[in-house]
Amino acid sequence: MAALRIAIANQKGGTGKTTLTVNLAAGFHRRGATVLLDADPQGSAAHWARLGEAGDDLPPVRSVDAETVGAGVARAARASRYVLVDCPPHLQSAALQRVMGAVDLVLIPVLPSPLDLWASVGMTAAVQDARRGNSRLRAYLVLNQIDRRNALSGAMREALAEFEVPALANGMTRRAAFRSAALEGRSVYGLGSRGANAARDVEAIIEEVTGL
Ligand SMILES: Nc1ncnc2c1ncn2[C@@H]1O[C@H](COP(=O)(O)OP(=O)(O)OP(=O)(O)O)[C@@H](O)[C@H]1O
Ligand SMILES: [Mg+2]
Repeated sequence: MAALRIAIANQKGGTGKTTLTVNLAAGFHRRGATVLLDADPQGSAAHWARLGEAGDDLPPVRSVDAETVGAGVARAARASRYVLVDCPPHLQSAALQRVMGAVDLVLIPVLPSPLDLWASVGMTAAVQDARRGNSRLRAYLVLNQIDRRNALSGAMREALAEFEVPALANGMTRRAAFRSAALEGRSVYGLGSRGANAARDVEAIIEEVTGL
């Protein structure tokens, strides 16, 4: 079966790309052979994985150059069932196009406020450009840092409805476990009961994505 290739990208910084990538990678790793490609020269995902004790929580993480990411994805896809690519913020548009040309699905984490969402609007045009060369590319926003106590504001729902890229029904709630996991070099699955609710968020995203 062909590998499922997913890029996690947003040119806006700090929206949860690395958090989503590492935890999705851990969830996919429990299902089948997975590789996480770290295309961020800051190496956050690679650093995260190095912090952890050697164990089976996280899949192998390889650093890739945004210039040659297409070849890196193709190589990883030959030997694995799931390939995830963590992208840096402020990725040059040519490099972003190369990443989106090499995957089946791009997930775009966004923070749940209209202003933050509009700061990601450039991704819509980037997805449309990428579809000229990769007509099967699917793209979804993933809401991150959702406040468990409050429903999404009306303004946020309106902003989402106007966005041309649809949002997944499932997102990541704001939870201390997502931060603890990063500090401990594990995924939320690796935190055991402390990470159970966060792992449920991630499982719901995986089930939605694999059922698309
Ligand atoms: N759902 C969440 N709950 C709590 N904290 C979160 C959540 N998602 C992300 N964070 C925290 O928010 C910060 C930014 O997240 P992260 O580093 O994943 O974003 P990023 O988009 O990869 O950033 P960059 O653009 O710098 O690569 C981190 O401190 C992370 O631990
Ligand atoms: Mg990051």
